[in-house]
Order: sequence, then structure tokens, then C-alpha cells
Amino acid sequence: MRQETIQVTVNGQIYFKNVEVNMTLLEFLREELHLTGTKQGCNEGECGACTVLVNGKPINSCLMLAVEAHGAQVLTVEGLASEEGTLHPLQEAFLQAGAVQCGFCTPGMLLGAKALLDKYPHPTPAQIRKEMEGHICRCTGYKRIVDAIMLASEKF
Ligand code: FES
Ligand code: FES
Repeated sequence: MRQETIQVTVNGQIYFKNVEVNMTLLEFLREELHLTGTKQGCNEGECGACTVLVNGKPINSCLMLAVEAHGAQVLTVEGLASEEGTLHPLQEAFLQAGAVQCGFCTPGMLLGAKALLDKYPHPTPAQIRKEMEGHICRCTGYKRIVDAIMLASEKF
């Protein structure tokens, strides 16, 4: 398979890598950079487990090619906490509200929620449900996730 060199900034760090042109951004993050916080669920754009921010916008990294991220800024769950390890307000709120159970959906939820709060700093529960509808959670019933995002919005 043909390869291309890409330059991509992930969690503030610049990487130059040769990648196969059919490699997804999800595979790139997990297999090339060993950032395994981003999860692979359906691999077809339905579950939101692989959500990361690309230039501040939430995208399903299973549907984007690594070569398409050339020149982009990518944020994964590993980049949410501060360098000193202080949790992001959303991470604290998810813990406080009991919104993490098996945790499989959580990295994608956190990035989706960050994009939501960047857009609507003080959302209503209905707005949260609508904006987060591309994220599937098989454990929580969603109420605690909505509660967590509301809680974080009070701290932002
Ligand atoms: S793994 Fe990408 S949306 Fe499900
Ligand atoms: S906490 Fe298990 S899938 Fe959401």
C-alpha cells in the first residue's frame, strides 16, 4: 500500500510519520502513537466511541483517514488533563456524577462534551441530549452523563 508522510499535532505534540494511505486516524492514534484511550467500537461511524477533536471539532476517527489529518491539531482523551495531571472539569464531573461505568464510551463522551461546552457553555439537558446523540452508552442510561455535563458547565 502506498505511504505518505504526514505532520500532525496530537495533544500539543508534533509528529511526522509515514502512514499507509488507507490507515484511519483511529488506527494511527492507537497503533502508531499508542494512544489507546480512543476506543474502537463499531468502526463505522455509529457509536461515537472513537470521537476525538480535530481542529476543535468532534469527529469519528474511524471514518477519517490519517492522511486527512495532515496539518491538523488533534485532541484525544490523553490530552484533556493538565500536564501536571489535574483532571479536566469534565473528567471530575463524570466521576462525581457516577457517569463512568465500564468506561468504554467515556473517552468519546468526554471529547464530544468538550466540543458541546465550547459551543454552548451553559446548555440545557435537552440540548445536551441532542448534541450527544451520536454517542452510545450501553451502561448508564445517559441520565448521569447529562448530569455530569450540566455539572461541568457550572464550573467552566
Ligand atoms: S468506532 Fe467510530 S463511531 Fe464507532
Ligand atoms: S459506561 Fe459503559 S458504555 Fe458507557
